[in-house]
Amino acid sequence: MDLSFMTFSRLAFGHWEGQPLYALVELGIPDLLVDKPQTCAALAVALACHPEPLERLLDCSVASKLLDCVDGAYANTVCSDRFMTKDNPESLVHWIRIMDRWKRPWLDLASAVKAGKAVDNQAKWLGEDPAFMQDFILGMHEFASRSGTAFAAALDDVPIVNFVDVGGGAGTYSIALCRERPEVTSVVLDLAPVIEITRQTVARHELQDRISGRVADYRTDTFGTDADALLFSNVLHQENSDVCHSMLRRALAALRPGGTLLVQGYFLAEDRRSPQFATLHNLSALALWDGGRSWTIDDMKSLISDEGFGKPAVLKEENSGFCLLAARKP
Ligand SMILES: C[S@@+](CC[C@H](N)C(=O)[O-])C[C@H]1O[C@@H](n2cnc3c(N)ncnc32)[C@H](O)[C@@H]1O
Repeated sequence: MDLSFMTFSRLAFGHWEGQPLYALVELGIPDLLVDKPQTCAALAVALACHPEPLERLLDCSVASKLLDCVDGAYANTVCSDRFMTKDNPESLVHWIRIMDRWKRPWLDLASAVKAGKAVDNQAKWLGEDPAFMQDFILGMHEFASRSGTAFAAALDDVPIVNFVDVGGGAGTYSIALCRERPEVTSVVLDLAPVIEITRQTVARHELQDRISGRVADYRTDTFGTDADALLFSNVLHQENSDVCHSMLRRALAALRPGGTLLVQGYFLAEDRRSPQFATLHNLSALALWDGGRSWTIDDMKSLISDEGFGKPAVLKEENSGFCLLAARKP
């Protein structure tokens, strides 16, 4: 069915809708409203800003159901309390800040398409901008933690004692697995500045005896030896196919015979035109990561088999295209 004018115009205005969300978090307004509704005048004093433009943001946020307003006092909704305040256990504040930052390369999508390469390679900021790196790593952790339990459950039949989590960030999936499986110990491999955040996150979950962090550049370094399972979660879409092949070869070398390779991420359908989120993810890989792209499940299976693994299987698949693949080392 064709798009109606209303749906079409909503797409054209699409980038407007997230902006109040980003501004609320940047200004820290939901944190100022925890347990305490406030008038615009009081918030303007706290934020040292002019009340009139602030009122426009607050009223638009009410219209977007990000805030409530009762008797002239603005208050958090259940959603803004849960996701937009920094001390809530369900906070997505770092992730929202990353989405805010990533809107900029998206604005240059046409240039990325013309040039066939990223307009602002995010990999370089991991090394050069500590604030970006902190938001990126903690933001991915906030978002990915939601699928940790399902990830661990999908591995129920995979025998694992020694686990390697390549590009594991804050250690999200190692933490999820270790919480469910007392026999597992894990090594998270990531870039030097990231590993410090990994260690802090792991310590917050009191798993420092079972999850260690090791500095490694996954483009060139080895991944250890005798692993029972090795995970690439949300990393291969950041790299070109030569790097992916090399990473899979080094994964094979790191696993024991019979050990399991795990690849998790967003995958396109075979015609590459669905699911819609995966097609957007594929474009974001173009705009954000030099050489990056989303793969189809069959493409990924071929890549894995080409490097000498046994037949890959899908362990878990969601409507969004988020999948977990597994393949055994012979
Ligand atoms: C999208 S995050 C995925 C984090 C985690 N695996 C997950 O699924 O939530 C990508 C991770 O790759 C790491 N990374 C990027 N380039 C890397 C490199 N050259 N060597 C090691 N890790 C790298 C980043 O620091 C980050 O932790």
